[in-house]
Amino acid sequence: MRIYLIGFMGCGKSTLGKPIARAMEYDFVDLDNYIEEQTGMSIPEIFAQKGEKIFRELENHYLCEISERDNIVISTGGGTPCFNGNMEIMNRSGTTIYLCQDVDILVSRLRNARVKRPLIDGKTDSELRTYIVETLGKREEYYRRAAITVANPSRDASRIINFLKIDK
Ligand code: S3P
Repeated sequence: MRIYLIGFMGCGKSTLGKPIARAMEYDFVDLDNYIEEQTGMSIPEIFAQKGEKIFRELENHYLCEISERDNIVISTGGGTPCFNGNMEIMNRSGTTIYLCQDVDILVSRLRNARVKRPLIDGKTDSELRTYIVETLGKREEYYRRAAITVANPSRDASRIINFLKIDK
């Protein structure tokens, strides 16, 4: 089995992915970290030196690579489902879970986590909110194709773990 966590930046994909993987006795991979390890570059460096288009190609390439592995929980990047047919790749190869987080929570979390995220780095608080509302509006159509949607997930993974264990 393969589980993909998807959703907007700051929705809790990596935070929840680790305890879910531990509880399921699966491996855990954060796609952004994996790209960084494989390329030897940080995500901001890839955006600055190669541009977003190349980043999206790398994201697709390494997603395909990881999607060959079994018994794994994969935290994707916020944009992963929306480019290069990635949502289809994930739905074909595993169970997709959309962590649907409230805009106010995303704003408050991302306000303190802009630096490592090139798409929001340098934005003022009001630009950040506008960006989140607009981008989420465009991305929802992809996120909504997930097999499972978890509304307002808390930092506590137990609800998701119990659900997945029943299915395992
Ligand atoms: C992105 C989200 C980031 C990272 C990159 C682009 C996006 O991942 O992949 O900065 O397009 O929303 P997180 O969702 O883990 O922050």
